[in-house]
Amino acid sequence: MADKKAQLIIEGAAPVELPVYSGTVGPDVIDVRSLGTSTGHFTFDPGFMSTASCESKITYIDGDQGILLHRGYPIEQLAEKSDYLETCYLLLNGELPTVEQKAKFVDTIKNHTIVHEQLKTFLNGFRRDAHPMAVMCGIVGALSAFYHDSLDINNAQHREISAHRLIAKMPTIAAMVYKYSMGQPLMYPRNDLNYAENFLHMMFNTPAEVKPISPVLAKAMDRIFILHADHEQNASTSTVRLAGSTGANPFACIAAGIAALWGPAHGGANEAVLTMLDEIGDVSNIEKFLAKAKDKNDPFKLMGFGHRVYKNFDPRAKVMKQTCDEVLGELGINDPQLELAMKLEEIALSDPYFAERNLYPNVDFYSGIILKAIGIPTSMFTVIFAMSRTVGWISHWKEMIASGQKIGRPRQLYTGPAKRDLTR
Ligand code: SDX
Repeated sequence: MADKKAQLIIEGAAPVELPVYSGTVGPDVIDVRSLGTSTGHFTFDPGFMSTASCESKITYIDGDQGILLHRGYPIEQLAEKSDYLETCYLLLNGELPTVEQKAKFVDTIKNHTIVHEQLKTFLNGFRRDAHPMAVMCGIVGALSAFYHDSLDINNAQHREISAHRLIAKMPTIAAMVYKYSMGQPLMYPRNDLNYAENFLHMMFNTPAEVKPISPVLAKAMDRIFILHADHEQNASTSTVRLAGSTGANPFACIAAGIAALWGPAHGGANEAVLTMLDEIGDVSNIEKFLAKAKDKNDPFKLMGFGHRVYKNFDPRAKVMKQTCDEVLGELGINDPQLELAMKLEEIALSDPYFAERNLYPNVDFYSGIILKAIGIPTSMFTVIFAMSRTVGWISHWKEMIASGQKIGRPRQLYTGPAKRDLTR
């Protein structure tokens, strides 16, 4: 039911009334679905700067206030008081689990962590020096070749088991990808470890030596998973929703999300931040790189800075920075790249170019420092992002299907040649 009406007056035509809806919080929306038929016009919004693609109850971002809520709970509180699997349950189901529900969910995920043995054969088809994200795209897309028993997207049980399989198997697949790149034997998951411990076990232990997992590193890893879990209608989530609207199976949709996340303007930025810090090398070079970032003729952008929605600090960056201090402090690491990153942030935020454009550090600016402290190689950073975001992608995929959404099919402003005949 519309809360208000908007009136659109196009020169030479009668005014058109459009419904206006209000959400729980955030901007109202003008429903333009009838615009094509009632006026013969389309809206025009490349990059979706002012377009709401759907209705959702999962995550809310207030870019001006730097607020991020998952089913109403602030990200700062979830990062401090919750854990990743509890946050997964919240995103998937809308409420925090009871003690019994949590125990059942954790047990369900534990029992889906192993992947089909033949996936190793698939893995062997890749070059060892392939980028881990290329391998992740391939393997996750191939999962639909192994799970024929749960591909009916209209079956709620199929949707649920696919969600559980993906959340459970992404760490196993990510660790496989890493071990394969190192030429080391793959490690199987263990049911006596929690989600983050299990991932670190599969990443860094070997059959020759199984060391206990540091609780500091496991807690930091779990926090990283929480901070990357979901983020409204970002590019990769919108990709998953669009792919899902065609009826594609969940594994194919998540593979599409992984591919979209890989871009350096999106999830690939965490890897790009470390590369950028390496290039800057020293505080004395910061001004030179800021000049490059401000030069419109230079494609260089300050990686880990700026955001389509946040025009204030990304709340995840704040928690990430605190976690940096905690982890490096507890590990006794004095990382010069952290010093350089902090100096870069300080100088950039005092520069009018960045201040005028509300460019602040985003989730990717500090995450790489922590991942490096945990021992994750830079090439695996976006894989970690993809693993964490899988629950967000699949939650939006489930919501989109439950809403009965039509296939997504945007129109265009055509400026190519008018009809012409091929005369010969
Ligand atoms: C993620 O959408 C999400 O929610 C994504 C994400 C999630 O959790 O899913 O939050 C994860 O992708 C975080 C963003 C990671 N990407 C980066 O750190 C790459 C660097 N950032 C930029 O590429 C950029 O800030 C974007 C892509 C993040 C946002 O781009 P927009 O919204 O299209 O903004 P814009 O390019 O229109 O920028 C506005 C102005 C422009 O200058 P003017 O034309 O006004 O003169 O700000 C400038 C831009 O040139 N600008 C930058 C800049 N970011 C924007 N200039 C230098 N360095 C930057 N980083």
